[in-house]
Amino acid sequence: MTTDKKPTDWQSAKNFLRGERPLGTIIHSAPEMRSTQDEAKKAARAGAPCGAVFVTDFQTSGRGRRDRIWNSAPGIDLTFSVVLRPNIESRHVHTLNLAAALAVKTALGGVFGDKKDLVKIKWPNDVIADGKKICGILCECAVSDGRLDYAVLGMGVNVNGAREDIPPPDSADRPEAASIFMETGRLSCLPRLLGEILTELGHFLKLTETGDGRRELAEIYRINCATLGRKVKIITDDGIFVGVSADIASDGALLLAQGGKTTAFHAADVVHVRAEDHL
Ligand code: BTN
Repeated sequence: MTTDKKPTDWQSAKNFLRGERPLGTIIHSAPEMRSTQDEAKKAARAGAPCGAVFVTDFQTSGRGRRDRIWNSAPGIDLTFSVVLRPNIESRHVHTLNLAAALAVKTALGGVFGDKKDLVKIKWPNDVIADGKKICGILCECAVSDGRLDYAVLGMGVNVNGAREDIPPPDSADRPEAASIFMETGRLSCLPRLLGEILTELGHFLKLTETGDGRRELAEIYRINCATLGRKVKIITDDGIFVGVSADIASDGALLLAQGGKTTAFHAADVVHVRAEDHL
């Protein structure tokens, strides 16, 4: 990458960490990385502690869900991964998606100010504003003996890009994307946003560790989820399913109602079907 821009001072994100034992007290940064996700996973396998963050100004090989390419603009977007080690059974790993999406949604609420009601979650973990994707989240886990060993959460937030910095969707089933700047007209400080997301993530992560916490997490998630109650198309490796999203269970599953039957989905791509869409 050639750019005249000075590398971001990612360590300054620590000035925005709040809480007793926040995530993000260890930050590994470099002007360029292939993928923060791959760096964080390598470190997690080698025993990196909970809360270790990998962040860069530019990823040369960013990855999205379902092996898609994740593109972000050098120096104007936020791309990072964090190592997590919550004390949970493997059957509860999907609640990490709820915690991660709520953390970003809450942090973006501060940035959007009086437009904060535009920011919503599209199940399982996209954060959207006015229907357009602002943030994608990749959650990858290792389990042993029925418990989570570690999870690596990778987040790509479109922050300060203009229309021409955002690639158009590569298929009709992919959501249109936008940036915080495009939606608010304001530029954001990347390290500050990183610190605020990590602070919120620490808070919501604690809820994943108890039954009462998971129920509370799902309750807050439902209030913030644009998918709930909508007609949706669910795309999985096993096929495509169309129905109404009836509920989000406290294990993170989307419950799809089709006629008389309800099916639980834990991982899938979801398309919000609009009245004018032909399926
Ligand atoms: C999605 O498909 O919506 C998830 C996108 C996740 C992208 C982030 S950017 C930081 C981290 N590093 C990666 O290579 N991917 C994740």
